[in-house]
Amino acid sequence: MNTRDFIKATAIGAVAAPHFLKRLDRLIEGIEHRAPEDVATDEDFWAEIRRGYRLKPDYINLENGYYCIMPKETLENYIDHLREVNYQGSWYMRTNQKANKESMANRLANFIGADHGEVIITRNTTESLDTVIGGLHWEAGDEAVMAEQDYFAMRQMFTLVEKRYGVVNKIVSVPNHPKSDQEIVDIYALAITSKTRLLMICHMINITGHILPVRKICDMAHNKGVDVMVDGAHAVAHIDFNIKDLDCDYYGTSLHKWLSVPLGSGMLYIKRDKIKTLWPMFGDFCCDEDVIRRLNHTGTHPVHTDLAIGNALDFHQRIGPKRKEERLRYLQRYWSDQVRDLPGIIMNTPKEKHRSCGIANVGIEGIPPRDLADRLLKVYRIWTVGIDGHGVHGCRITPNIYTTTDELDVFVGALRELAAG
Ligand SMILES: Cc1ncc(COP(=O)(O)O)c(C=O)c1O
Repeated sequence: MNTRDFIKATAIGAVAAPHFLKRLDRLIEGIEHRAPEDVATDEDFWAEIRRGYRLKPDYINLENGYYCIMPKETLENYIDHLREVNYQGSWYMRTNQKANKESMANRLANFIGADHGEVIITRNTTESLDTVIGGLHWEAGDEAVMAEQDYFAMRQMFTLVEKRYGVVNKIVSVPNHPKSDQEIVDIYALAITSKTRLLMICHMINITGHILPVRKICDMAHNKGVDVMVDGAHAVAHIDFNIKDLDCDYYGTSLHKWLSVPLGSGMLYIKRDKIKTLWPMFGDFCCDEDVIRRLNHTGTHPVHTDLAIGNALDFHQRIGPKRKEERLRYLQRYWSDQVRDLPGIIMNTPKEKHRSCGIANVGIEGIPPRDLADRLLKVYRIWTVGIDGHGVHGCRITPNIYTTTDELDVFVGALRELAAG
């Protein structure tokens, strides 16, 4: 029985009646002939998408960077998977669980343009990237390069290997407003020495939304014999890309962020020839050293979450990766272009369109970021997060595809008032 038949046999994978998806199909038919940049500005279309979500009315949610809630359709499917796994009990675990998980990993591989056997499902970005950092054969004096703007959890994992093996961590700083790609490439290049083993870079810096020139950094590092690990927590299902075009060696992400998989779902990509270079986090002698599955010993875990990846992909792919990217970029530019040049406003995200998408960061002179977030919430009912460090002082603003321009008008009005004092 092949994987597809397995999923059918368990009745898992085609559960809740896809009411919204059918409506979505009809909706998409009506706009399919239009360019994504054009659809990005169509408030009627996105209002229909918004109807697919249950949104808390107490505040305007501009803090989708932490994680993205599921649309109702995915949530219902997820609950059905939970119900079905509970119904089938250990029969499911002993028969179809592994094949279903592999089938979901293969769908993810297709989605990002990887080969089957290069992708595993993890719990999140932290687990994905720490599997690489902790799994390399480090020797005392080996060097790793990363940026102060990188996520703290990975930085702490590098501190762990520093304490354990004597690895030397070199920290660079990425400017919020680079003059060119080359400026960023050079910052990383200057930190590389003959002892450098690994470079960690963000695909999209979480505190500013800055998209880095990943391919150019990878080409530079590879020319110097250094591998590159990409933190893609915010890029997958946010911007449309193919992993082979990046040519990185390792790539980790959290699927509960922009793909809107239930919480506790992530993905790790490892370029085929690098798989054998890693020690697994947990002992597993299932297979040859070039088989990625030996790095994916999870023990018993919420397997219904794995199944919801398929539903989240169905939803995302219907909307269309490029359409979603363009809508998110449009929303960010909708508010940021209105305030960028106002006195007292400090934009911490690059101005050029290709260097950012849905996420941006804005500060106001004289207002500490935490106070700004506080006032936005208390006075204007706008939920954001204050960021104060690593050269970034402001609130991170992350709309999602259900955000309306009316909501952003409230935000722009708030910024104008607060900046005017
Ligand atoms: C850039 C970046 N990397 C890694 C992570 C960690 O993600 P998780 O907690 O899902 O592992 C985050 C979380 O926000 C992030 O923004």
